[in-house]
Amino acid sequence: MPFLSLILIRTALLYLAIGFTLGGLILLNKAVPFQPALWRLLPLHVEFTLVGWIIQFVMGAAYWMLPRLGQYRPRGSDVPVWGTIICLNAGIWLAGIATFVSSPFPLEMAGRMLEFAAIVLFAVHAWPRVRPFGEG
Ligand code: HEM
Repeated sequence: MPFLSLILIRTALLYLAIGFTLGGLILLNKAVPFQPALWRLLPLHVEFTLVGWIIQFVMGAAYWMLPRLGQYRPRGSDVPVWGTIICLNAGIWLAGIATFVSSPFPLEMAGRMLEFAAIVLFAVHAWPRVRPFGEG
C-alpha cells in the first residue's frame, strides 16, 4: 500500500472509532437518558462518520487503486494529496469545534471551505488517472 493511502486509511479508521463511540454514547443516552448534553455531540458524530471516515477512506482507497501514470512517479505528484490530507482534517476539526462555540458561523464556514479545498485538490490529483483501459 502506498504511504499516502496508509495515512488516509489509518486516519479514517481513527475517525471510525471515535465517530462510532460518539454514536454509541448518543444511542445509549437515547435509550437510558443520563446526560442530556450528549446530544451536543451529534454534529461531531455526523462530521466524523461522514467526512472523517467515509470520504477519507474512499480517498485512501482511490489513491491506491486508480490507474497509474507509467513507471516514473506512477501516482503523479504527492503535493495535492498532502494538501487534501491537511485541508480535510483541519476542516473536520474546525467544523466540528464550531458546534461548541457561541458564534459558530465563521469557524464552520472556514471548516467547510477547507473541506471543499480538500475535495478540489483530490480531484486535481485523480483527474489524469481516471481514463479508460489500454490508455497510457
Ligand atoms: C458510517 C457510519 C455512520 C454514519 C455515516 C452516521 C451518520 C449519521 C447521521 C448523518 C446522523 C444524523 C441523522 C439526522 O440528523 O437525522 C446520525 C445520527 C445518529 N447516529 Fe449515526 N452514523 C453512523 C454510525 C452510527 C453508529 C455505529 C451509531 C451507534 C452505535 C450511530 C448512532 C447514531 C444516533 C444515536 C444518532 C441520532 C439519531 C436521532 O436523531 O435520534 N451512528 N448518524
